[in-house]
Amino acid sequence: MNIAIMGFGVVGSGVAELMEKNHASITEKSMQPSMNIKYILDLRDFPDSPFHDKIIHDFSVILHDESVAIVVETMGGLHPAFEFVSDLLRAGKSVVTSNKELVAAKGYELLTLAQEKNVNFLFEASVGGGIPIIRPITQCLAANEIDEIAGILNGTTNFILTKMIAENMEMGEALAMAQHLGYAEKDPTADIDGIDSCRKICILASLCFGKHIYPSEVRTEGIRDVQLRDVSYAANGGYVMKLLGVARRVKNGRLCIFVAPCLVQGHSQLASVDDVFNAILVRGDAIGDVVFYGRGAGKLPTASAVVADVIDCAKHMAKRKLLDWGAPEEGFVMDCAEVPYRFYVRGVCANDETAEQVKAALSSQMLHITNAPSGEIAFLTEEISEKELRSSLASFSGFTIGSLMRVTAY
Ligand code: HSE
Repeated sequence: MNIAIMGFGVVGSGVAELMEKNHASITEKSMQPSMNIKYILDLRDFPDSPFHDKIIHDFSVILHDESVAIVVETMGGLHPAFEFVSDLLRAGKSVVTSNKELVAAKGYELLTLAQEKNVNFLFEASVGGGIPIIRPITQCLAANEIDEIAGILNGTTNFILTKMIAENMEMGEALAMAQHLGYAEKDPTADIDGIDSCRKICILASLCFGKHIYPSEVRTEGIRDVQLRDVSYAANGGYVMKLLGVARRVKNGRLCIFVAPCLVQGHSQLASVDDVFNAILVRGDAIGDVVFYGRGAGKLPTASAVVADVIDCAKHMAKRKLLDWGAPEEGFVMDCAEVPYRFYVRGVCANDETAEQVKAALSSQMLHITNAPSGEIAFLTEEISEKELRSSLASFSGFTIGSLMRVTAY
């Protein structure tokens, strides 16, 4: 069976390496006489690569070669990946991608196209790198109604937060290390500002809740404004700060979905997820909480998930994997500022009287603070919606909000 790879960057080259390294077992598991990489599409030449003789620059060669049955898309970005993948599915080829931007923006369209053509469109690597999560949700947890899914979905920001927590390192220095190690996106803004996590929680939410969720529907906040003292005040209260993507079914059947730095319970499994590792907690009505943990970024971990999908495609050439979700629905996603949560609040009080009033009205747990600017306090609230909390805080003219973050129940 012939395979093509589009995009010979970190992940694409990892796919080629892994297919060569484990060629015999991959071929056997694919139940094919052979598994051969025929083309690698890229704009660049790679004269020093062992795969240099497979490099091509013309997409139409892959599209029109009937011997190519499965195409791996590791180019990243929306265009021309969307056009290429659409053309390939229309031509009856199965496609495997690691491209979360593509799946988050166009998943419903591409899954529908794959369904029409009776081919597979698989994207295990698009969320959590090498962690099995798409397949477990669609298969192993299929008997459950999912109530909530919450994940540390971005290795770069988790690496940065870990360095800030454990080594008091500044954000810029930690980001440079993450880039050097090949974890960060080409434009690290997508990591730092939560855009990458947003795409991933959209994919997970679409899968768990059955309707396409667009990134524009998700309230997204990254770690840019996180300060070292928030991290340390959280620790003083027994919490660990993590950038989470959360999708939660709320009472009226609608969805609360957001990406934001949150305080997780110090004893929870999510709290101990450090460095570039990712973890995804799924709360099902039958299973309770289940946590998936592993390497969420990097060349071979991500290639591991891509190649697993290639094997699955090869084994299911004549039938489709049951992996679909429905059309987007207006009003399905609600304003998460209306959903009650416990909150972490840091702010500055103009005087002692204001401090006493704010504490009496809103604090359920004061946090120990050190080396703080004059008048600063930090506390946790009882459950309250963000709207109510902001309006209550605004009623104290002597209080200025410094930071406000959700506290999770896990
Ligand atoms: N930049 C991403 C991360 C890569 O750091 O998690 C994997 O999607």
